[in-house]
Amino acid sequence: MRNEDKERLNRQSQKKYFFHRLRNGCRAVWKNTVQKIIMFAFYPAAILIWYLFKNNLGLEDIPLISPVFIVLVDMMLPALLIGGTFVILILFGTPYGFNQMSNEFQRIGMTNSAGEVPMLLSREKDKKYGNVEILEFDGVGIPLTEWEKERGYIEAALNVNIVKIIEGRNKRRILLHVIPANSGLPDFIEWNDSYLTDDDSTLILGKSQLGMESVDLSKIPHILLGGSTGSGKSILLKVLLVQSLKKNAIVSIADFKGGVDFPRVWNDKCKMCFDEDTLLTLLTELTDELERRKTLFRDTGCANIGDYNKQSAVPLQRHIFACDEVAEVLDKTGLTKEQKERIGLIENRLSMIARQGRAFGIHLMLATQRPDANILSGQIRNNIDCRVCGRADTILSQIILDNTTAAEQIPKDKAGRFILHDGTVFQGFWVDESSIF
Ligand SMILES: Nc1ncnc2c1ncn2[C@@H]1O[C@H](COP(=O)(O)OP(=O)(O)O)[C@@H](O)[C@H]1O
Ligand SMILES: [Mg+2]
Repeated sequence: MRNEDKERLNRQSQKKYFFHRLRNGCRAVWKNTVQKIIMFAFYPAAILIWYLFKNNLGLEDIPLISPVFIVLVDMMLPALLIGGTFVILILFGTPYGFNQMSNEFQRIGMTNSAGEVPMLLSREKDKKYGNVEILEFDGVGIPLTEWEKERGYIEAALNVNIVKIIEGRNKRRILLHVIPANSGLPDFIEWNDSYLTDDDSTLILGKSQLGMESVDLSKIPHILLGGSTGSGKSILLKVLLVQSLKKNAIVSIADFKGGVDFPRVWNDKCKMCFDEDTLLTLLTELTDELERRKTLFRDTGCANIGDYNKQSAVPLQRHIFACDEVAEVLDKTGLTKEQKERIGLIENRLSMIARQGRAFGIHLMLATQRPDANILSGQIRNNIDCRVCGRADTILSQIILDNTTAAEQIPKDKAGRFILHDGTVFQGFWVDESSIF
């Protein structure tokens, strides 16, 4: 791009931004009492005082001041009225830190081809999370993907932690949700029953910079957990299962690693299964239960388990089926035709629960570190909307979240640190089953 083109585009943007600030200023005066008082009381009063007392300044008596200056002073009233109003509106409409942020963006080379940097349009406190501030930028055509890629640089430049980056009301507007740089996540938070929610369907996943992260099974019924070995999947799964049990759900656990991760106490609380035959029986029982509830709801005119439990004297319990290392179960490589058929039946049951489980209170929680495409069929995966990924490489992250954010944002030395499908990073709870039961 030629230099004069760049200059022309810059001028155009400056003009646009000027009007934006003016409009913002008007809006600020319209909305806020303080601004209103300054605009309509203090400022007119100041001008009035100036007007009344300017003759008392005795300017005429000072020999060095020319008559031209005195005429200028006389003309200042209209200038102050019109020009001053503009200046005040622009000041009100310019978010604090605008210049500094522009400079910082320039420094890290966050510019478009015309050399323009993103322009801060507004900043306000998040209504839901008090410690979060939302910075709205005109992205000057820099796409969201680029912001995501430069996340680390932006955090360092603006000296904040970015909680999430989303598009605003259109693709040009970028919203950065930020918190102060010194408020990182703790590495260890122990689970405590006081964190339990009141309803029967909401489970807490962990703590993010926004507060508690949770999943409501009545809305998002199934959970897919990814992460490399030692990323903390089993512990997170246990935290979810502990909560499910405390909420009176019936929990079944398939653990094909021979039960090393789930010591004896779990046997007393849950149905455990360690081989394919038991697993198939268990899943068949669950799909039968699903069909039974279907008939029951049809007969009673209920749309879902929540509805049914409201009107029934004997509430239905939720069923949770958890499978740690689901790849151990569903991997078909090197199997005989007969074995493959049996796995096919297991998949078929899982798929039915994934599709229909929500209304009937039957839920899947699947954990995996091996993301081979032939392990988790699209049918199952596409029906699991709560996706959580811990420490992972780009392939695993891509399989679980459909993007590479886990590989980029979860530090390699952090266990129990996860990222949600919506980009929120959280620290999962640590749980010790021997003390909790
Ligand atoms: N929430 C957590 N907080 C702190 N450390 C954790 C947490 N979850 C896991 N860890 C650590 O990581 C190790 C592996 O966790 P685990 O759940 O077995 O991983 P995975 O099942 O992904 O292989 C644990 O023994 C523990 O030391
Ligand atoms: Mg594990």
